[in-house]
Amino acid sequence: MTDRRRDAEAAADRVPGSRFSARLYEPVLWLGEKTGLARWRQRLIADATGEVMELGAGTGLNLRHYRPGLERLVLVEPDAHKARLLAEKTPPAGVDPEIVRAPGELLPFADDSFDTVVMTLVLCTVADPPATAAEIRRVLRPDGRLLFMEHVRSDGPRMGPLQDRLENLWVKLADGCHCNRRTVPMLRDNGFEVEVKVSKDQFPMPPVARPIVSGVARPEA
Ligand SMILES: C[S@@+](CC[C@H](N)C(=O)[O-])C[C@H]1O[C@@H](n2cnc3c(N)ncnc32)[C@H](O)[C@@H]1O
Repeated sequence: MTDRRRDAEAAADRVPGSRFSARLYEPVLWLGEKTGLARWRQRLIADATGEVMELGAGTGLNLRHYRPGLERLVLVEPDAHKARLLAEKTPPAGVDPEIVRAPGELLPFADDSFDTVVMTLVLCTVADPPATAAEIRRVLRPDGRLLFMEHVRSDGPRMGPLQDRLENLWVKLADGCHCNRRTVPMLRDNGFEVEVKVSKDQFPMPPVARPIVSGVARPEA
């Protein structure tokens, strides 16, 4: 194992996680998946091509949506309990995913390693979103793409401030998730051109975790 990989695993050990929350994750999302989230995942991930890295892959809800025969798939997940469940999932035909334990803030890959980075419902949870964005940008090739789906702070005059007030409580209830992150401006401030393709508020997520935005971010030249 390289020093970089070892440092990343040590940093991953400091990311909170438990066997209980890993087991509870899919049952909690079940209704959302059935009523729309899985379709959103499918549309987003159909675009993943070339050498692909998924960040914060969780228990592997995206895995079945990758195209068969994908050139390379690296699944990055810091939480050892979720990574274990991820390893039990069946990958698409002809794809042999590599599972790497690392946080987004310290990715153990060389510059310009990937054509596509996939990230769904992750930037709400990472400890340092700008550092994570900088690492994604570093490992993406200059013509690479970040395919993302994230829930973000509402622009609504009532909901946005309410999300700000509920943030600390939501972090405790929802496994470290921040309900009020301004993810799209944050990506723009950290070297990405962002194209939001879908933004929906009526999604079957709790109102505090809406809207969900999905799109493509490209490293600025
Ligand atoms: C809400 S879950 C989303 C899981 C999966 N992407 C999905 O769409 O179902 C958030 C994920 O981010 C991971 N995570 C937490 N902190 C992280 C960090 N610093 N870097 C990368 N992933 C992180 C968690 O372990 C968890 O798997």
